[in-house]
Amino acid sequence: MNPTQLATTARALVAPGKGILAADESSPTIKKRFDSIGVESTADARRDYRELMFRAPGSQEFISGVILYDETLRQNAKDGTPLVKVLSDLGIIPGIKVDMGAKPLAGCSGELVTEGLDGLRDRLAEYAALGARFAKWRAVITIGEGMPSQACYTTNAHALARYAALCQEAGIVPIVEPEVLMDGKHSIARSEEVTNEILHLVFGALYRQGVYLEGMLLKPNMVMSGYEASSQASVQEVAEATVRTFQRHVPAAVPGIVFLSGGQSDELATEHLSAMNALKTPRPWELSFSYGRALQAAALKAWKGKPDNTKAAQEAYLHRARCNSAARYGTYTRSMEAGATRGDKLVSQD
Ligand code: 13P
Repeated sequence: MNPTQLATTARALVAPGKGILAADESSPTIKKRFDSIGVESTADARRDYRELMFRAPGSQEFISGVILYDETLRQNAKDGTPLVKVLSDLGIIPGIKVDMGAKPLAGCSGELVTEGLDGLRDRLAEYAALGARFAKWRAVITIGEGMPSQACYTTNAHALARYAALCQEAGIVPIVEPEVLMDGKHSIARSEEVTNEILHLVFGALYRQGVYLEGMLLKPNMVMSGYEASSQASVQEVAEATVRTFQRHVPAAVPGIVFLSGGQSDELATEHLSAMNALKTPRPWELSFSYGRALQAAALKAWKGKPDNTKAAQEAYLHRARCNSAARYGTYTRSMEAGATRGDKLVSQD
């Protein structure tokens, strides 16, 4: 492990005004996305779609890194250039999803634990050789009747820390993603309670396993009311509860917190991030984005699998990237959305 190199990469990923594009949908997930626009999910279609975002003119002003799926890390652009090189040449850092998905947790009906630790050391060595400089592992915490269980909290926290330690050993910056799902009828207070608990356990596990905090990023949910809750917290309430929660649990040594969008509308995901960055309260880390759906939904809708729509799809993607870049400074306003394409709700991101 080279701590200086890890810290430099982690800080570059949260450089001012920039955030991360999560384009690491697994094959089943991207198939569902393509089904929603009536496009067959072939390797070429997946390449064309991702390439149009990677090559969107000027995106490097707003995008610091892209999380890829295994297939994309090995894929060439239409002109034969490796997609990893397309990104690196633009100064965009390539990353890789390394978990093998959230699977049912034995003995805990309705709960999930993320798999993929077996053989991870070898896979990370290969990914580093292919050009990946950071990685992602997503753990899923569900709020519901009797959930989360202690087993769900502890098994996921432990796995996240094992993954993070292995990444750093391989010279790869781990993005540690404990996602408390926003689905459900729960209140914002319950979301805060569960997010507090998982963060406490995750940072305990990271400490015990010797993870170098300066060389990692945290990718959490925002603290919000469940989507089906009868009363929805305001943007200001979400911003205050989210920042308060992270102030209590995330050491100042961590360079950045890069939120997932979690199924929020494009505008709301941006508005929440902007409100957090506008708060007058101590924030020792950068507050940024690592959005999948909230960066891609409008582009997917504009593209529809047709080469003629490439430019419109790039513009839709760049618009969201620009809005989220403004949110990094707390200066986003809804007036920036005038005339923009709005993305449809998409199936959950893995
Ligand atoms: P969403 O922003 O669509 O939630 O996806 C981010 C992600 O990478 C989830 O793992």
